[in-house]
Amino acid sequence: MFKHAIVRRPCRAIVDGITSAPELGKPDYELALRQHDSYITALERCGVTVTVLPADERYPDSCFVEDPAVITGKCAIITNPGAPSRNGEKDQILGAVKRFFPDDKIEYIRAPGTLEGGDVMMVGSHFYVGRSARTNAEGIRQFIAILERYGLTGSEVSLEKVLHLKTGVNYLENNNLLVSGEFVDKPDFAGFHKIVIPDEEAYAANCIWVNGTVIVPQGYPAVERAVRAVGYEVIFVDTSEFRKLDGGLSCLSLRF
Ligand code: GLY
Repeated sequence: MFKHAIVRRPCRAIVDGITSAPELGKPDYELALRQHDSYITALERCGVTVTVLPADERYPDSCFVEDPAVITGKCAIITNPGAPSRNGEKDQILGAVKRFFPDDKIEYIRAPGTLEGGDVMMVGSHFYVGRSARTNAEGIRQFIAILERYGLTGSEVSLEKVLHLKTGVNYLENNNLLVSGEFVDKPDFAGFHKIVIPDEEAYAANCIWVNGTVIVPQGYPAVERAVRAVGYEVIFVDTSEFRKLDGGLSCLSLRF
């Protein structure tokens, strides 16, 4: 069960965030704020206490707090984001992490290692780590070494097409895994009950399980049906403005 979530308010500079889909247009800042309000409300409805960090105009993508830190049940790991414009976010998330973890339970990924939390999927005490354009082999090596010091395990997953591992695969607990695209047939995930998302709704493979409820992006009926079919309550949040920056529901919070 999760007790806490950390989020950061979108900043006005969000219009300058990184995107692989400029054809979707720039995010509307005011609408992004309203969608962020709904996201916080959804988390609260799932029973977590939400720590809301102020907007940081220096970092256009800084509302995607999942990337500069990974929080496990035993320690917090400050990452080293591979996107140069996002790297400084790691120093800004540290203060929030320190509210919950003592210094000797906070670990760091160091250069030349890079790692972004969007590439990390937690399944109990095991962590799948995507090797992506943002997360390199050395970052994964350091990450797994840290996990093992705490009695946790990790394994690398290759990815070719999407930004982050969790762009295309997300664990919904109880052995249920939402998968899309390149992850559908990956041997790494053969042991899961796979819920395969059709290509036209691939964006919504990025759902989050929070204390028995699944938060689903609004407007993806096949994903809604599939998640309900395995027995979960569903809460919808419209994420249209974050999608314009390749961002999804998981990216917008640290949950622990
Ligand atoms: N715009 C989110 C990212 O590229 O990291």
